[in-house]
Amino acid sequence: MTTNRKDDHVRHALDQQRHADQENDFDDVRFLHHALAGIDDKRVDLTTRALGLTWPAPLYINGMTGGSTATGEINRGLAAAARESGVPIASGSMSAYLRDPDLAGSFRVLREENPAGTVIANLNANATVDQARRAVDLLQADALQIHLNAVQEIVMPEGDRDFAAWPARIERLAAALEIPLIVKEVGFGLSRETVHRLRDAGVTAADVGGRGGTNFARIENARRPDGDYAFIADWGQSTPCCLLDAAGITGIDLFASGGVRSPLDMARALALGAVAVGVAGRFLTVLADHGTQALTETIRGWLDQLHQIMTVLGVSAPGELRGCDLLLSGDVAQFCHARGIDPAPYGSRRTRT
Ligand code: FNR
Repeated sequence: MTTNRKDDHVRHALDQQRHADQENDFDDVRFLHHALAGIDDKRVDLTTRALGLTWPAPLYINGMTGGSTATGEINRGLAAAARESGVPIASGSMSAYLRDPDLAGSFRVLREENPAGTVIANLNANATVDQARRAVDLLQADALQIHLNAVQEIVMPEGDRDFAAWPARIERLAAALEIPLIVKEVGFGLSRETVHRLRDAGVTAADVGGRGGTNFARIENARRPDGDYAFIADWGQSTPCCLLDAAGITGIDLFASGGVRSPLDMARALALGAVAVGVAGRFLTVLADHGTQALTETIRGWLDQLHQIMTVLGVSAPGELRGCDLLLSGDVAQFCHARGIDPAPYGSRRTRT
């Protein structure tokens, strides 16, 4: 069952990427153009500090898959592209491995293909410390991602219905593990209240995992014979809204993922406060349609284009994007009003610094 589910997820996610409406809330976030702001591109350096490690750029391949023969091959391609482009890579949920150690190879390939890179293990929020250690050991992982996916679970007929233990489990993992802990949503977003709770629980980084890209309510509903959960497809907060909501929270790094379509979306997410940006569905589609080499070139191309965007904006380091002027409009501005956030200061940040 698990094996089929992992293959189903890939199939539906690819279908969404190829056919879904490509607009999302990142379109409501525009950089104000200053025609004399540009710098010499030789001054731009994408090097990033995240999770206590040095990354070559503020980009990672987010957790997707493993647990079947076909998804093991996908992991091989993703990991090879991560190795060639230098970006960190996260595993898909490793619960299947905990249940059936014979599935280890489909996850371990992430480390085998990428022996010197940053590899991140992935489990759900019910994981015990012992289970987390087993997953981390299998990948010799540099960090652990815990995914929060209550909406996905309720749409799955076989999904969990008890989420009460999650906060205590997360706190225990944060206290016990020797490596950084990332907690992520899978596409419905983290509110500022949730990010506060994660910070207080000792979590290293919160990946807001917002709405706007791969939609697991739709994916799981498509797997139901009667498709009777269509009503929930639009649940949650988009990635830009989550970042605005959580702006200014200290003591935890903010990562951004969910609906990142381009190098410009990466720059927007960084300007909204993310330390690093994760991509899942887009990169999976490039791999499935064009192969490993094409994915490597796509990732290198994105980093080169981010470099150029920063040159035009006049910022030499990703963190400086947080000082750029942003014009917030449409649904994103409405979200700000509804949550008591004033969007106007974002439009004149440069003059204030
Ligand atoms: C995912 N995602 C995911 N996340 C996670 O934490 N554990 C998992 O096992 C999976 N599985 C999975 C399978 C497939 C096929 C996809 C495309 C995605 C969710 C992923 O990490 C991310 O949060 C969402 O996909 C939103 O990002 P994108 O796809 O819009 O870039």
